[in-house]
Formats: sequence, structure tokens, C-alpha cells
Amino acid sequence: MATQQIDLRSDTVTTPTEAMREAMASALVGDDGYGEDPTVNELEDLYAQRVGKEAAVFVPSGVMANQIAVRLLTNPGDVIAVGARQHVVLYEMGGAAKNSGVQFALLDDSDGVVDPAELLIALEGEVHHQPAIAAVFLENTHMPSGGRIWSPAQINAIVAIAHGRPVHVDGARLFNAAIASGHSVRALTEPATTVMSCLSKGLSAPVGSLLAGPAALMEQARIERKRLGGAMRQAGILAAAGIVALETMIERLRDDHARAHYLAQAIAERWPDQAERVLSQPTNVVVFTHDDAEGFVSWLHQNNVQAGTIADGVVRFVTHRGIDDAAIEQCAALIKRAP
Ligand SMILES: Cc1ncc(COP(=O)(O)O)c(C=O)c1O
Repeated sequence: MATQQIDLRSDTVTTPTEAMREAMASALVGDDGYGEDPTVNELEDLYAQRVGKEAAVFVPSGVMANQIAVRLLTNPGDVIAVGARQHVVLYEMGGAAKNSGVQFALLDDSDGVVDPAELLIALEGEVHHQPAIAAVFLENTHMPSGGRIWSPAQINAIVAIAHGRPVHVDGARLFNAAIASGHSVRALTEPATTVMSCLSKGLSAPVGSLLAGPAALMEQARIERKRLGGAMRQAGILAAAGIVALETMIERLRDDHARAHYLAQAIAERWPDQAERVLSQPTNVVVFTHDDAEGFVSWLHQNNVQAGTIADGVVRFVTHRGIDDAAIEQCAALIKRAP
């Protein structure tokens, strides 16, 4: 019999809970193309209310939520100022260029949070005949820096420098940010024009993300969703799981954060030069550098632990509902004796 693998590659590997499956089986549905799916409407209203925006749109994926935001907030030829390692820059297959004809002004996001002075420099480029920066995109939590959190004050500082330009928050893991920081979700979203969150990561729903913002913009978002092929019909089957996710799965993210910290302590013990970095990573993503990252990940795999790399020499672990204390202890013990 194959040994059970401890899968720390991503929180996207989570599967729906029993409560989600039951809600999906009995969901009221209708044709969402006509706005007639009551469960989709309920989920959209619930998310809009949670993030304090006028309206929300249910979409199949986080990538689509970001890509719709790009289309809403820019015109072809525009520039988006954005952290250099954000998902919309590195992990969406050049979607912003291909779908919307925009380019990026890349800001240093090594520590997750961007220094407003960096944005100011990028904006000043306009004076020197560089293309207009139409919007600013942030990521909270910021995955590549190890799930770091933007505070409301840090978001507000960027919004102030953006000077009326729209600000989009990629909040794929927004609820992790709220739980770990103690800031309310609304405090993290209030300064932004649009925000998106994923239901299918730590929240464990099988499919779906939400994009929220002003009502008129969200009407346009429905058109862009259709253009991108993301309009669905009896999507209440999926939205039902999303409602369970938003209503019951947020508080437990705390456990994922505690387990990630336990793992970080093992990494810090084994490689003290990484201690400062990993011990300050506050949520469910643990990222660190290793001289032979690929070799380390394949050694872990041989020992029944799956992790991943996100850049040359950068290892990533992500904790989630499928990882319990026993699994994390086994993994921590393994790391302490890593070659
Ligand atoms: C920060 C961030 N944004 C967006 C996405 C995209 O989400 P999806 O995989 O649902 O398209 C991810 C997925 O890992 C992510 O980590």
C-alpha cells in the first residue's frame, strides 16, 4: 500500500467538507446568466457585505478575478504599478498583457509590503513621457514573501500616493490576513477600489473566487466575465460550498498559521541563517532559501512530504486543513534531520 503523502505544496489541495457537500447537494439553483440563481446571489451579497463593497461577482477562479480587475481598471497601453512578484505578474501566464494589453511598472516587494516611496518614483515617470499608470495592484497576504500582511495603514499610504487612481487588492488569502493580524476584514478592504478573495484555498471550497467593488463597476465585471468565458449557469451548486466556506471556515485558519509557525521553528533550528526570515512569516505560507532547493524538495518527497519551489533556490510550504498536528510534527522532525 502506498504511504500517505503529507502534502504541503499549496492550500489549493484542500477538498470540500461534508457540510459543503451537503449544501451543494441541496442548493437552490437557477440560471445565473439571467441573475436567477438564488444561491449565487446570496454568496455575492454575503461577500460584498463582508468586505464592505456595494456588489460582488462570483467567478470560477482567482486568476479570472484578477484578470477582470485588470480589464475594469485599465485601457490597452496603460501601466499597472504592482509588486514585482505578485500573482498577477508572475503566475497568470502573461494574462494582463494578452487579455488587456497592459504592462507593469514593477515595485520592490521583497518584504511583501511595497514602500510608498517606490510608487511615488514610478508615478513620477509620467512627467518624463512614460506611459500613464492607471491603477495599483497589491497582494494581501503576499504569497512570495511568506504570506506577509499589509496593514490598513500600509494600504492607506499607497492609496494616498495613488492619488485617485484605483487600487485593487488581490486578497486570495485576505481572510488569513484578517485572522492573523486581528484587523477586521473591512479595515483591510475599505481603502481599496476592488478586492478579490479565493474560496478554494484555505477556506476549502472546491471552486470559485469573488470580486467586489462599486455596483456600477461590478455590472461591467459581469460583462468582462462573460467575455472571458467565465459566466456560469446553475452555479449555485458551487456557490453553496462558498457560503459554507465564508460562514464556517475562516476562524480555523488560525490553526494553519500555528502549524506553519511550528514548521518555521524547525527550519530555523536546522538553518539558523533562515530564522529571522521564516519566524516572521505570519500566516500559512513558509518560504525560505536553500542552496539546493530542488534537491531538498525531492529528498522530502522520498520521505513522504510534498513541498514546492516558487523561484530558483526558494522552497515553499503551505499549511491547510488537510495538515494536522501529527503531520506537522512528522514534517518538522524530518526537516531537523535534513541533509
Ligand atoms: C495571491 C494569489 N492570487 C491569485 C491566485 C489565483 O487563484 P486561482 O488558482 O483560483 O486562479 C492565487 C493562487 O494560488 C494566489 O496565490
